[in-house]
Amino acid sequence: MSEPVEWLAVASEQDLRKDGRLVVTPNGLSILLLRLDEQVYAIGNHCPHLGCPIARGKIDGFMIVCPCHDWTFDIRNGELIIAQEITLPTYRVKIDTQQIYLQIGQPGASNG
Ligand code: FES
Repeated sequence: MSEPVEWLAVASEQDLRKDGRLVVTPNGLSILLLRLDEQVYAIGNHCPHLGCPIARGKIDGFMIVCPCHDWTFDIRNGELIIAQEITLPTYRVKIDTQQIYLQIGQPGASNG
């Protein structure tokens, strides 16, 4: 029998509408919310290279470029483009009554 799924409210949709990106810090984690193509994605905000904040990176389509040394990640699955075994954590996202919820305990595909 699987564990019940717990969702944690982290922000309102209105908060994310301002510039399409928002850093939230549930349970002491730093997570970047991004709105792209009317979907909300949630990825870890610390680059696995040297920890720079991904939130300051440039976005090109579904790619985000770390502002420190240009490592480029796919926002949809967190994978580093040139070495897919290196990843940012991604989190499942749910939106209900204009509130954004994340599954914090179980990193996995966003928007599931
Ligand atoms: S800290 Fe992100 S590429 Fe170096």
